[in-house]
Amino acid sequence: MPVVTVIVLVSFIAYSTWRAFENAYYYAEPLISPFYSPCLSTVCTPENAQFFWTPFGDWTIFGMTISPALFILIFPLGFRLTCYYYRKAYFRSFWQSPPACAVAEPHKTYTGETRIPLIFNNAHRWFFYAGLVFNVILTYDAILAFQNAEGAWGHLSIGTLVLVANATFLWLYSLSCHSCRHAMGGRLKHFSKHPVRYKAWTLISRLNGSHARFAWISLFGVALTDLYVREVAVGTISNFYFF
Ligand code: FES
Repeated sequence: MPVVTVIVLVSFIAYSTWRAFENAYYYAEPLISPFYSPCLSTVCTPENAQFFWTPFGDWTIFGMTISPALFILIFPLGFRLTCYYYRKAYFRSFWQSPPACAVAEPHKTYTGETRIPLIFNNAHRWFFYAGLVFNVILTYDAILAFQNAEGAWGHLSIGTLVLVANATFLWLYSLSCHSCRHAMGGRLKHFSKHPVRYKAWTLISRLNGSHARFAWISLFGVALTDLYVREVAVGTISNFYFF
């Protein structure tokens, strides 16, 4: 399992880094890639700058324009990296701290998550809140995908299904998060006095049992959604419309 984890995570990091630096083919009316949404840079075309808010200019580094994807990457990346499930996976696969239950680790001393860089894992709750904002934006993108290429509403294409599935799995991943479960039901002394929170906590607890599955499905989902939008934008495939 650790080997599979290493291969999948490294492949995802390599693909997403390449795509972020490619800085092209992230929009094909009405589809936008999740790696570039929200597009908050002045280099975004008017169609894909959905919020008409572009706080970042066409800044360059080493003569290259900074890709809009890089301005927002910290939030989804921080959310994934600090996720309790991924921590377990990469602590065993990469960090060797610990390599497995009851296996001595190669590090001289165990410092847990009290020092740089692992101390940043304590920010998971804040990345969770930021992730919710991104989920709302990607859901909005999925709703926009019910248009055709001319902007008329009431159409359904493969791209619509891809964006809807991507947003759904990201919501399931976020709602099954341990921080979400704690935010909903943690620190309560009497569930009986908070019936709504208790109900929500019960539902989230059920989802929480599948958190690892949602983590992997949503990871593949976001990469495949980006790939689909890219191939449509390049012209390799066309976005088939059912109606
Ligand atoms: Fe995995 Fe929060 S524990 S996203």
